[in-house]
Amino acid sequence: MCGIIGYLGPGDGISLSLRGLERLEYRGYDSAGLAAWQKGKIVCQKTKGQVKILRQKILSLPESKSHLVIAHNRWATHGEPSKINAHPQSDCSRKIFLVHNGVIENYQSLKKWLKERGHSFFSQTDTEVIAHLIEENYQGNLLEAVQKTLPLLSGAYGLAVISESEPERLVVAKKGSPLVIGVCQKGEYIVASDPVAIIEHTRKIIYLDDEEIGVLSPQGVRITNSSNSLVKKEAQSVEWDLAKIEKEGFPHFMLKEIFKQPETIKNALRGRVNKKQGKVKLGGLKDWLSFIANCPRAVFLACGTSWHAGLIGKYYFENLVGLPANAEYASEFRYSQQPIDPQVAYFVISQSGETADTLASLRKIKKHGGHVFGLINVVGSTIAREADAGVYIHAGPEIGVASTKAFTSQVTLLSILALSLVQEKKLWPLSEMKKSLIALEQIPQQVEEVLKNAKRIKSLAKKYYQFQNALYLGREYNFPVALEGALKLKEISYIHAEGYPAAEIKHGPIALIDQNMPTFVVATNPDDLVYQKVITNIEEIKARGGNILAVANSGDKVIENLANQVILVPQTLDFLSPIINIIPWQLWSYYVAVQRGCDVDKPRNLAKSVTVE
Ligand code: M6R
Repeated sequence: MCGIIGYLGPGDGISLSLRGLERLEYRGYDSAGLAAWQKGKIVCQKTKGQVKILRQKILSLPESKSHLVIAHNRWATHGEPSKINAHPQSDCSRKIFLVHNGVIENYQSLKKWLKERGHSFFSQTDTEVIAHLIEENYQGNLLEAVQKTLPLLSGAYGLAVISESEPERLVVAKKGSPLVIGVCQKGEYIVASDPVAIIEHTRKIIYLDDEEIGVLSPQGVRITNSSNSLVKKEAQSVEWDLAKIEKEGFPHFMLKEIFKQPETIKNALRGRVNKKQGKVKLGGLKDWLSFIANCPRAVFLACGTSWHAGLIGKYYFENLVGLPANAEYASEFRYSQQPIDPQVAYFVISQSGETADTLASLRKIKKHGGHVFGLINVVGSTIAREADAGVYIHAGPEIGVASTKAFTSQVTLLSILALSLVQEKKLWPLSEMKKSLIALEQIPQQVEEVLKNAKRIKSLAKKYYQFQNALYLGREYNFPVALEGALKLKEISYIHAEGYPAAEIKHGPIALIDQNMPTFVVATNPDDLVYQKVITNIEEIKARGGNILAVANSGDKVIENLANQVILVPQTLDFLSPIINIIPWQLWSYYVAVQRGCDVDKPRNLAKSVTVE
């Protein structure tokens, strides 16, 4: 939430920062701003709205270039989206400017104290207090002023600060919100909330840790910790391919990411599955496998789409491994009284690796002696670094705010994890393991086949896009698919949608059914125990005049006769079916949103990475 970029060096910091802000727009897009050192002064431009508006305004700056720049995309927490509340924020003298990602929880008491000391405030933001505190502590040295200020703040921050009096310095600090430093060459650095804003300039990235402060200057990067001791940090090489953060000809990132799933699922499987030998391996967890296999219980912690994947993980552990498991919202878990058990295997699932609630849950578990394992996408992210061990899902950068490819990769990896435990506990004969691995390896090809239905799904969307409410139903492994389908629809097309376990409708939601309330049902795997039950649920809805759109397996005549519309998908083993069955709902949500004229990659009120609670 909120994107920060900063530049110090001999190049054109303004155009680089604007480009960086565009790459970071997935983190927030309700307002944007930039401050640059020009001709002995810091000039600042801000606007409500997206970076494209800021780009226009920048043309009015006295010069087009600057060697020292900070810039920001905002996702409002304190104060409405407006020019005044946009960052950079500054002090009374307008000599100190900063950009911030995070929340300062004690800002009200600090503001009161600062007002009593004569400071004037212009915005409603929590961030502005940081600028005034730095002003209060400034005695000719920006680093010292920042060092004195940070201990006064409670909450989270990624910060980049500049001062008019120190044109050769960019001070950055991090606690709870991500911040990385790209090293282009000696004396040229880019600071950002995410490497995606940097990698077209350099692949050498330094990851700041919490409570570290960095000073960037023509002499180099100097990083100190909260006790002011020097911290030696090596730049790490980021392997991402630039094409992965471009749209590559697709109209939206979301559509591109949906279509990349055959490839991203293959990447999740690569090197982990050997169908000939009937073996799986997860290098990142190999030292902990026996601990996990023998633990009394597992807990999956995550938010949003990642939580839906965690819920599938619960079914995997219980049904395939016989290991009791729960999936809990990280936002609830972090404040729950649930005792942390060092015998339990805790898993945190996160695409970004920066979600505030998931990170807080991880820290809570570790603080109380528990063991936490990560299933993360972003390499080097805070959760990936702080987990005891973990595995990457290797989905590549996910830019679309609506998560798609991360979900299918998470579920793929959870299936491999469950199969590793089956192997560790010697639960299945080799033939059964081989059967599962053959099915797993076929998934990318089967997803490819579902994607061939895009045209038909698009035409269905054109027919149905005007409905206002929707019900999504599925059972067992496909109950989380119903939840995920509903989440996808509501977040990008603003249609109210609810996901339910199919049998639950009789306990309330069936009252909503009429011809204006479509029901989306997953009814695959006709040999499956719950299939017949879902058919009964469909009959019940039809009997009440409801419209049914079903995802079913090719050749299923029962559903074809029952449902108003059927999207056919290839059949796989029941436990792997969510990876295939979610694809039609992803496409469906996308085309409905486009049809309704919604900004698919920048849905209102949302941001990709939720780094505040
Ligand atoms: O980065 P994470 O996986 O931790 O993010 C969790 C949720 O914020 C995320 O899945 C969110 O629900 C998506 N917008 C859903 O599409």
